[in-house]
Amino acid sequence: MKFDNYMVLQFPSKSCNEAFARSAVACFAAQLDPTMEELGDIRTAVSEAVTNAIVHAYPDELGTVTVRCRILKDNVLDIVVKDKGIGISDVEQAKRPMFTTGGADRSGMGFTIMESFMTAFELSSELGKGTTVHMRRKLSRRQ
Ligand SMILES: Nc1ncnc2c1ncn2[C@@H]1O[C@H](COP(=O)(O)OP(=O)(O)OP(=O)(O)O)[C@@H](O)[C@H]1O
Ligand SMILES: [Mg+2]
Repeated sequence: MKFDNYMVLQFPSKSCNEAFARSAVACFAAQLDPTMEELGDIRTAVSEAVTNAIVHAYPDELGTVTVRCRILKDNVLDIVVKDKGIGISDVEQAKRPMFTTGGADRSGMGFTIMESFMTAFELSSELGKGTTVHMRRKLSRRQ
C-alpha cells in the first residue's frame, strides 16, 4: 500500500516506555495537523495498546514491543502495536467490555476504548506467538 511517511519504534516491555510510545506517536501524528481532540484520542488508544503489551504479553519476563505508524492517503494515520508474547486464546472474548484477566487492578476496557476512539480497529493474536493491534484514525483537514 502507498504511504507518505512512516516510523517504527521498538522497546522493551517496561512500564516507563508507555509514556514514551504515546508521546512519540503523537509527535509523529502532528505533521497531519490534528485537532487537540484527535490527538487526545490517538494518545489514549496507543496508551491502551502499549499498556496491554507491557502488562499482559510478557507476564514473567521482558519482551519486545514494536509500534509502527504510517501516514496513508486522505489524512489517515495507521498504527500497529505488536508483541511476541503469550497471545490471547479468544480474541472475541478479550474485546468484550469489562472482560479482563487482570483482576481488580484492571477494568477490561482497553480494547473497547481503542475501538471507539479509532476509525478502524483489528485485533489478531496467536497463543504463544503474540498479539497485533491494528488501528486507523482518519483526521479532519483543518482550514
Ligand atoms: N498484548 C496482549 N497479550 C496478551 N493478552 C492480552 C494482550 N492485550 C490484552 N490481553 C488480554 O485481553 C484482556 C482485555 O484487554 P483490555 O485492554 O480490554 O482490558 P485490561 O487490559 O484487562 O484492562 P484495562 O485495559 O481496562 O486496564 C486482558 O485482560 C488480557 O487478558
Ligand atoms: Mg488493557
